[in-house]
Amino acid sequence: MKRKLFVPIMITLVSLLLIGLLIYSIQRHIAGRSFESVNNAISSLIEIQASALYNGCFSRNQTYYLVIEEKLADANILVQKATDSFPLIDLVEIVEGRPPADSFDVILDGELLRIECPIRNGDDETTVPNMVGVAIIQAQRLLDTVSAKDFRIDLVHGRKTTYGIPISANFTSHSLLDSIIIVLLIGFIAVSIFQHYYRKANTFLDTRGLESIIYLFEQTERISASHSRNVAMLALFVGKNLGFRGKKLKDLYIAALLHDIGKIGIPNNILTKNGKLDSCEFVQMKQHPAISARILRNFKEYERLSPIVLYHHEREDGSGYPEGLTGKDIPLESKIIAVVDVFEALVGERPYRDPICPLSAFQKMKSMPLDQKIVSLLIDHYGELVSFRPPRWALSYSPWLLAS
Ligand SMILES: [Fe+2]
Repeated sequence: MKRKLFVPIMITLVSLLLIGLLIYSIQRHIAGRSFESVNNAISSLIEIQASALYNGCFSRNQTYYLVIEEKLADANILVQKATDSFPLIDLVEIVEGRPPADSFDVILDGELLRIECPIRNGDDETTVPNMVGVAIIQAQRLLDTVSAKDFRIDLVHGRKTTYGIPISANFTSHSLLDSIIIVLLIGFIAVSIFQHYYRKANTFLDTRGLESIIYLFEQTERISASHSRNVAMLALFVGKNLGFRGKKLKDLYIAALLHDIGKIGIPNNILTKNGKLDSCEFVQMKQHPAISARILRNFKEYERLSPIVLYHHEREDGSGYPEGLTGKDIPLESKIIAVVDVFEALVGERPYRDPICPLSAFQKMKSMPLDQKIVSLLIDHYGELVSFRPPRWALSYSPWLLAS
């Protein structure tokens, strides 16, 4: 059982892993796109703010001259008034420091953004040395402004944006409903994969297991070695010529392969007796179809085939066994197996007589209470048997008939 489960479990686990990786990569892609959007929005907002500060406050001639004249308090009052319309800015002031070479620098200090601008004369671009205009902005407020509620400042694990602001996603890329749908979808796929492969492995292993039983059975009775496989191959041949396809053909094949499995329950001295069976022995031998049917009922996959094997010794005129059914009550598959079983017995070697040639076998069969339509079909198409190739799913068989 463990071996039987191993392959489907592994396939299911690998499939789940691949599905998980797919979902993970989709989420990563969505998160990456969201991060880029937020990053672009933040960069633009900072540049707009800094540019407005520089042009509207720190490069105004009035500011420049107040600083040059060392009226720093007046200059700060002026820039603060000018920045009243900048809601994002918490603090603005002119302090001592090294002015940036360009219009502004953006420096991250913890969760605060520090925008530094030179104090310049708007006319001739003269810069005040050792003085710098500073504006402080809370980075989280920037995030909130660009509607990035799903992001937060994360100094430890955050991914850095253009100006170094570290942010982390504060969201899952799918809703609760999405999660439920994904879980159901994964569950459905997993169960489907598992069922598919488990059934496949189950069928395969059961078939192999039963074939092994047949093989062992045949080893105990050398005379009927390959009998079951020859009968199965002939049944396939006849079934195909009768129009059997797909599952119906496969069922016929497996039933033919297993039709005599019940001989396992018959004493070996009866099976291998070199001569005719007495009445007592024959009674025991006649039990083998019922034993075959009972064995198949124990295999869930082949339970439905038990009537076919049960009636493979029934005859058209009711002279067969175990129930003495007549033609109309015998399953077609049982009739096919009966015909090819008799044919194989006649042309095969037996301890109590020599094999006969196929033509002689056909002559004998014409007078037997077998389904004569099937007998005729076998006779008519027998020449095609040499070129007959069984389907791929057919198990190994002995090709002795092809050589004859
Ligand atoms: Fe039989």
